[in-house]
Amino acid sequence: MQRKITKAVFPVAGLGTRFLPATKSIPKEIMTLVDRPLIQYAIDEARAAGITEFIFVTSRGKSALEDYFDDAPELESALKAANKTALLETLQSTYMESGAIAYVRQNRPQGLGHAVWCARRQIGEEPFAVILTDDVIAAEKPCLQQMVEAYTETGGNMVAAMEVRPEKTSSYGVLDIAEDRGAIVRAKGMVEKPKPGEAPSNLAVIGRYVLAPSVMHNLNRKRIGAGGEIQLTDAIAEDIEAGVPVYGFRFRGQRYDCGSKAGFLQATVAFGLAREDLNAEFAQFLHETMALREAAQ
Ligand code: G1P
Repeated sequence: MQRKITKAVFPVAGLGTRFLPATKSIPKEIMTLVDRPLIQYAIDEARAAGITEFIFVTSRGKSALEDYFDDAPELESALKAANKTALLETLQSTYMESGAIAYVRQNRPQGLGHAVWCARRQIGEEPFAVILTDDVIAAEKPCLQQMVEAYTETGGNMVAAMEVRPEKTSSYGVLDIAEDRGAIVRAKGMVEKPKPGEAPSNLAVIGRYVLAPSVMHNLNRKRIGAGGEIQLTDAIAEDIEAGVPVYGFRFRGQRYDCGSKAGFLQATVAFGLAREDLNAEFAQFLHETMALREAAQ
């Protein structure tokens, strides 16, 4: 039986330059899919997996993100007075217990590994989860919950994994497979953003991790990796050498790369279509738009 995972780290210090000019004044984690900010999807997924302590690694210019999780008494009384019960419930579903979120600051960007390392004092000597808010995963059972359940059997370290097209491997951490058991793959190595043609497989790491505290110790060494940054992938790979196993977990669900414009638009369409209150009108619009496009070609 593994120790229960109750803490999750959310590295949210990134500048979000790919979404300029929007991210000039709003953190990218506040950008919305339909009507919910990306961070809300990540928090809900963490809660479903049993997480009770949320550690945000932030940076300058992220105050809107911190404010987002405060209670909103003015909004609440306005909605109560207007008898808008459904909206009131939506609002209250975003509330977090006081003290449940801790904010630690990354003073300057030095890579994902460095961002996670900033949370070392909050994590201590416990296994913990990491969620990258850019990776939004639509799934019947939330991805991190699937992983925590699988981790109960395996222990060690576990990363979400997905096959990508060979020409895309250079954008990801990639697993070197020792043993493929289907949903679970044991890795004998991991490479961050391998050069084209050098990837050990096309099984890529997606932004959900369940990690042993030893990964924090590895990060202490501040080894510089791909892109001149301290990489989380490298710190996890070091565990393999030290005898702590690393597993890739092929999750069930659809992942959207909301760190890219195309991925964000795809997620917007998919989440819009999945919403009962929007589906009919939105589906018709998409249908007509595509028909017009085809007619014009
Ligand atoms: C990060 C990780 C990478 C992982 C990816 C998943 O890269 O460093 O290993 O495959 O997230 O989205 P980033 O996309 O931040 O460059």
